[in-house]
Amino acid sequence: MKFFIDTANLDQIREAQALGVLDGVTTNPSLMAKEGITGEKNIIQHYIDICNIVDGDVSAEVIAVDFEGMVKEGEALAALHPQIVVKIPMIEEGVKALKYFSDHGIRTNCTLVFSAGQALLAAKAGATYVSPFLGRLDDVSTDGLALIEEIRLIYDNYAYETEILAASIRHTMHVVNCAKIGADVMTGPLSSIKGLLNHPLTDIGLAKFLEDYSKGNQ
Ligand code: E4P
Repeated sequence: MKFFIDTANLDQIREAQALGVLDGVTTNPSLMAKEGITGEKNIIQHYIDICNIVDGDVSAEVIAVDFEGMVKEGEALAALHPQIVVKIPMIEEGVKALKYFSDHGIRTNCTLVFSAGQALLAAKAGATYVSPFLGRLDDVSTDGLALIEEIRLIYDNYAYETEILAASIRHTMHVVNCAKIGADVMTGPLSSIKGLLNHPLTDIGLAKFLEDYSKGNQ
């Protein structure tokens, strides 16, 4: 399973990279705004900064919602750095753009996916990644993990190569359950990655080992 961090915060990206388990970064306009990154020039520089920190894929989202606009913006984003993956919303014009980019060898991440039908369409259009937002489904009393399961089944039925990028991850159990289902990638906050480290028995066990070692070496 690939681990992506879902943030535009450079310190958090560096911290996840330093842990040695980071495979990529996803961003969106809200995450950029949260870090105070506004204006096309600053946003573009921020994508480059992120690419210079991590080795893996970095999703950069288009703002246009028409086919021509998405193609223009997506081509410019893809030209910024080989690690850039163009993030396209699951709308009618977006499906056309996914197909265009797939035909032109530009990698894509289809975002804002909330149903199995949308995920099927994204795979048909040749998306590199599909991003079902499981946390936002959970927020409205709908089983987000069940959607990941459905998409896994459909993609396996037809051997679609589109990777399932479980997005809107909120906590460690989302990560673990997505891994059990077989999502190809998870993207979540740093806490959802570092939280996987925690177990009180590990802390108690280590304290005891260190205590016994120091007793034996007095
Ligand atoms: C995916 O790429 C999105 O950036 C993200 O996972 C959205 O998550 P949220 O529901 O926590 O905003």
